[in-house]
Amino acid sequence: MEETVAKKRMLSGIKPSGDLTLGSYLGAIKNWKERADEFDCFYFMADLHAITVRQDPASLRRRTLEQLAQYIACGLDPEKNTLFIQSHVHQHAELGWVLNCYSMFGELSRMTQFKDKSAKNADNINGGLFTYPSLMAADILLYQPDYVPVGEDQKQHVELCHTIARRFNGVYGDVFKIPEPYVPKVGARIMSLTNPTAKMSKSEDEDTGRVLLMDAPEVIMKQFKRAITDSDTENCVRYDKENKPGVANLMTIYSAVTGKTYDEIEAEFAGSGYGKFKPAVGEAVVEMLRPIREEATRLMKDKGYLEGIFRDGAQKASYVAEKTLRKVYKKVGFVAK
Ligand code: TRP
Repeated sequence: MEETVAKKRMLSGIKPSGDLTLGSYLGAIKNWKERADEFDCFYFMADLHAITVRQDPASLRRRTLEQLAQYIACGLDPEKNTLFIQSHVHQHAELGWVLNCYSMFGELSRMTQFKDKSAKNADNINGGLFTYPSLMAADILLYQPDYVPVGEDQKQHVELCHTIARRFNGVYGDVFKIPEPYVPKVGARIMSLTNPTAKMSKSEDEDTGRVLLMDAPEVIMKQFKRAITDSDTENCVRYDKENKPGVANLMTIYSAVTGKTYDEIEAEFAGSGYGKFKPAVGEAVVEMLRPIREEATRLMKDKGYLEGIFRDGAQKASYVAEKTLRKVYKKVGFVAK
């Protein structure tokens, strides 16, 4: 374990709340493969966080494993990354409790995600939803990471994590390392195929113009064939984000998949119109996703393999987490076991 000490540590949680989309793959996950060369990376499936909104037990269990399988299929090498399931490492819940006592009501009330989710789940505004950020702070601080890569929507939570850590350190000395924000290398920003001014979301509904990593080739082709292009009559593959957002989005996807520049794409489809362009993008996506889907499907059938991964991961994670938790328990005045 000591050999990884020289690398800076990075940690991120992934909520098993939906399937991965083409957008999250091209925008982020695709770049995670190389991260392991530079950083000591910890990734966990945030099932404790998932139950802050009601979950069907069987599907939560399935999605947690599917998510793990999909990330591995996308190139997260379990030999080089620590992959685990949050609920398997009991220190998360334990430090989460302690940090609840160092998170202020006012701070938690101001979180935009809490406000949004309370509005959406008015019949289930539970304590877990409210203290979600204290648990997230525990997730992070347990591992003393140097960096926490998160998207825009989670920045506020990472800032609160800093506040909580500084408050705790202020009372007890330097217990927690304050992680730096990490701005991930941004991949392509992929929009919905039917509403190209909105980001592609992992909605259940196909009509929202999303493509899932696990979609069958026919489904992907159908999605691309009915992708919105433009209301103009130009019928010409040309990059103009302002006036032709649908075509621009398809070009972004095609470019991300094939590595071709916009100029090259314009030349390739000069004179052929959208009728030929849309299925070409679809086919490129199908071919890129095929090995990922096949590998994830294969892994899902190999429960023994997945178990081996998440057990090893939890063991490695607990080793690190326990050190921090023990220090915290001592600092706050708990009697040693
Ligand atoms: N809240 C994050 C999300 O919704 C998931 C998450 C939980 C997380 N714990 C974390 C991310 C710790 C980074 C670090 O995306």
